[in-house]
Amino acid sequence: MTQADASTPAAQALARVATADPVRPFVVAQLGQSLDGRIATLTGESRYINGDEGLDHLHRLRAVVDAVVVGAGTIAVDDPQLTVRRAPGASPARVVIDPRGRVGGAGKWLADDGASRIVITAAQHAGPPGAEVVVLPARDGQIAPRDIVAALAARGLRRILIEGGARTISAFIDAGAVDRLHLIFGCTIIGSGRPGLQLEPLARLADALRPATEVYKLGSRDILFDCGLRDADGE
Ligand SMILES: NC(=O)c1ccc[n+]([C@@H]2O[C@H](COP(=O)([O-])OP(=O)(O)OC[C@H]3O[C@@H](n4cnc5c(N)ncnc54)[C@H](OP(=O)(O)O)[C@@H]3O)[C@@H](O)[C@H]2O)c1
Repeated sequence: MTQADASTPAAQALARVATADPVRPFVVAQLGQSLDGRIATLTGESRYINGDEGLDHLHRLRAVVDAVVVGAGTIAVDDPQLTVRRAPGASPARVVIDPRGRVGGAGKWLADDGASRIVITAAQHAGPPGAEVVVLPARDGQIAPRDIVAALAARGLRRILIEGGARTISAFIDAGAVDRLHLIFGCTIIGSGRPGLQLEPLARLADALRPATEVYKLGSRDILFDCGLRDADGE
């Protein structure tokens, strides 16, 4: 975990994560989306909706957390490295939520580079080589996000970045398990494709989350909305 550099764009947003109370877990989620609210094309292609500045911010976020978490869907489609390469700092632990053990042993996230690799699953299995397997209870195939946060915190991983995809982040928000949401809008219009957040349906618009939000221009083509979700209840 590295301290945020005060001279970088959105340094305040990064500092909120880096200086969070280390005693309790702190969860930040990030989603890069187009102006029309898509996180990928219909075929799942998402590289890159954001420009260089948005990517730089994501890598800076990785550098200030202890663990980066993605769902099995993102591993299957993107084969991401989940390391810090575009910013100073060490790579956090890499965590994949894979309840059915469908993630194979060949992904880039499994690189033996000194960072811990953890699979969160619902059924005991050997797991990919080099990864710790953490078995948690599931209901209807869903593992409670708060159980995942607690399991990571028990391993000393208290600053947690939920990096995607949309289904994983949505479940964490629905469970009230996200402190801050970093929505990065790239100046891109896709016009079709996979939607961003899909939360539990609302009965009334008055129940919508209305987070206190800070806005940062990251560069010429990316805008960060840093939303405080901890106290963002509807009316
Ligand atoms: N724009 C961005 O910032 C961004 C970031 C990351 C990914 N993406 C894109 O997003 C797409 C993938 O996203 P996605 O929403 O389809 O998938 P995802 O969120 O990556 O993965 C969802 C899957 O992860 C497992 N999972 C996650 N949370 C779980 C929980 N609490 N309990 C049990 N299982 C859980 C489940 O696996 P099972 O299906 O095995 O049950 C679930 O179906 C790709 O196209 C990728 O390119 C975009």
